[in-house]
Amino acid sequence: MPEADTAATKNFSTGTPAKSEPFFLKGSNELDWGMKNRLASIFRPDSGRTVMLAFDHGYFQGPTTGLERIDLNIVPLIPYADALMLTRGILRTCIPPTYRGGFVVRASGGPSILKELSDEELAISIDDAVRLNVSAMAVQVFIGGEYETRSVNNLTRLIDLGNRHGIPTLAVTAVGKDMNRDARYIRLATRICAELGASIVKTYYVPGFDTVTAGCPVPIVMAGGKKLPEIEALRSAHNAVQEGASGVDMGRNIFQSDCPTAMIQAVGKVVHENMAPEDALEVYRSLKDDVEKNRNG
Ligand code: R5P
Repeated sequence: MPEADTAATKNFSTGTPAKSEPFFLKGSNELDWGMKNRLASIFRPDSGRTVMLAFDHGYFQGPTTGLERIDLNIVPLIPYADALMLTRGILRTCIPPTYRGGFVVRASGGPSILKELSDEELAISIDDAVRLNVSAMAVQVFIGGEYETRSVNNLTRLIDLGNRHGIPTLAVTAVGKDMNRDARYIRLATRICAELGASIVKTYYVPGFDTVTAGCPVPIVMAGGKKLPEIEALRSAHNAVQEGASGVDMGRNIFQSDCPTAMIQAVGKVVHENMAPEDALEVYRSLKDDVEKNRNG
């Protein structure tokens, strides 16, 4: 039993109204506490943005270049990421459970690169997502793809399951081989995902990106895409955040870089500090030099 509180006076600061601040993320103000708390583990409240490190590629393409050994190639990058995007298999086998940042678990799958990629189903139960304490679940949406309706149905079912447990859903707008990657298409795909209830949308940077972010009522994170020279990847990250993206979800342009630890930190400068890409490239070069000096003793 606690001792009885015998203080004669108490201070309720009756003249000070309780704070009621809007949540920092676009379109997320009306969400429940658990959902907001999970989103705040992905997006940094100080900048409103995220550097999410994507390494879920193995779910359809096996041991992608740079991901041959997640324990050796990716785990050392984790301290520089705000959030991770990965499969539950890699989470359980390679990521230390002492990890305290956000993580988005791949929740759709089925076909490998040898088959029609839009032919996906949901690939995790909500029970397992809860058991893993995921920050969000990610599902691929193939607008205009062969199995468009099924992928949209995967999205909406996952949103319903996630909402029941306070888990946000990240919709990934997949761009098929024959699809036009322009602002008109990306506006269509991202808006459909948000209208159907996604909490976050991941999509590619295209010219006219400001119209994509303006037309999407929830945060957009920029997908990295295939490996580019460092300066080009930094430019697209810079352009994306300056044009309204809430950060990046980048994979190959980090883990296939000549110096992934330097690249992820340079991307962080662009995303969180609005650093110009040319200056971030200098950061990259200088960190890379340090890594090489340390390696050579
Ligand atoms: C692909 O479907 C996965 O969702 C990747 O996480 C995504 O493409 C981001 O990786 P990258 O920057 O390599 O394109």
